[in-house]
Amino acid sequence: MSEGFSLSDALPTSNNPTPSAPQPQGWPSWGNQPPAPGGFPMYPGPPGTYPGAPGPFPGAPGPYPGGPAGHGLYPGAPGTFPGAPAGPGPYPAPGQPPSGPGFGHPLPQGGPSPPMKVPFELFLQAGLVPQLLITITGTINPNPNRFSVDFKRGNDIAFHFNPRFKEDNRKVIVCNSMFQDNWGKEERTAPRFPFEAGKPFKLQILCEVDHFKVAVNDAHLLQYSFREKKLKEVTKLCIAGDITLTSVMPTMI
Ligand code: GAL
Repeated sequence: MSEGFSLSDALPTSNNPTPSAPQPQGWPSWGNQPPAPGGFPMYPGPPGTYPGAPGPFPGAPGPYPGGPAGHGLYPGAPGTFPGAPAGPGPYPAPGQPPSGPGFGHPLPQGGPSPPMKVPFELFLQAGLVPQLLITITGTINPNPNRFSVDFKRGNDIAFHFNPRFKEDNRKVIVCNSMFQDNWGKEERTAPRFPFEAGKPFKLQILCEVDHFKVAVNDAHLLQYSFREKKLKEVTKLCIAGDITLTSVMPTMI
């Protein structure tokens, strides 16, 4: 993960923000990064859509027009706000901390949606493709122990993202992969722990050509280099642990 940063990653002038430095538009600027050379082809569909997803919601904002409001939605997918025109809505402006469930954005008319079930599973029809962005919003439960986000290929786990709140009285983010029931070497180099008991969060995981990027509350947190190479076969996203889920949205950026 952070070992994978190039020099340009560390420069504040690059498009890859330094940890803890929110970007001007409150967005990690992932969409502006040139694709790495020599990678496999991008998913050819239009930005904002993910294969298998229904078309854009009528009246939904265009896909990623240079800002946080541009998520092409995946309406009808499990985990989106039922009936919400644009999911949880744009992210708070820079400098404003997230507040309240759903970050204070109005809930769909008719009252709050029922809580999403945790553990939660989402089928990714086309598997992982570069520029697939998974946006997860929710709230950390009171007195949490841990939660995890797993990208799975069958029983194997291509990417296990696992914040632990009380490992030997410390907070740590553990990243790893599991092949044939064996865990690999843990990566524990996240420079900070951005989750707090009882607080809402936005977690974004972007699939790049050879790594995942992870941002929390619009600030880049870490990278994780692919160990699993058969990305198209990584078709399951599983979220479990001590959180309440508000939305899970796959989009293409
Ligand atoms: C194990 C733990 C698993 C997983 C793994 C990651 O100790 O039981 O759930 O988090 O570490 O390396």
